[in-house]
Amino acid sequence: MLRIGKRRGCGTGASIAPGSRRYTHAVLRLVLIAILALIAAIAIAAYFLRPEPPMMPRDMDHLARQSEKQCLSCHGLGQKVPRKPTHPNANDCFRCHNLKPDT
Ligand code: HEC
Ligand code: HEC
Repeated sequence: MLRIGKRRGCGTGASIAPGSRRYTHAVLRLVLIAILALIAAIAIAAYFLRPEPPMMPRDMDHLARQSEKQCLSCHGLGQKVPRKPTHPNANDCFRCHNLKPDT
């Protein structure tokens, strides 16, 4: 019995097993760190590559003081100058759109 067990352990084999398991954990940790770094890189790239909101031109349509509801009477879906379907789904226009600087 004891002899068979020893033969199965095969000398150095027994000491490699725990070491290789530690190696596997290190590789797993590296893969995890790489995946997290990739996700962070994609998030940062998405943040900086997102489109800039265009500024409102200084014309009669936009210089007038008006509510955000009135903006949608021209820029709403199906109106004269509709926003693109990919436009951010947010209706507080002035958070993102300012008048062009007066220069
Ligand atoms: C009477 C209709 C009308 C109203 C009301 C109006 N707009 Fe406009 N808007 C236009 C037109 C027409 C253009 C295109 C002007 C041009 O290209 O010179 C435009 C252009 C813009 C642009 C620039 C788009 C681009 O691609 O450069 C933005 C931003 C914008 N409007 C936001 C707003 C916001 C915010 C409001 C509400 C405060 C508003 N508009 C109210 C007619 C209107
Ligand atoms: C969260 C920020 C945000 C808000 C709030 C917002 N917009 Fe925009 N808008 C953008 C961005 C970003 C773009 C450029 C989109 C692109 O280039 O794909 C844009 C583009 C536009 C354009 C140009 C046409 C187009 O679709 O690209 C118009 C007109 C416009 N917005 C009108 C409005 C109006 C009117 C409101 C309020 C009812 C509004 N936006 C609210 C971010 C915003």
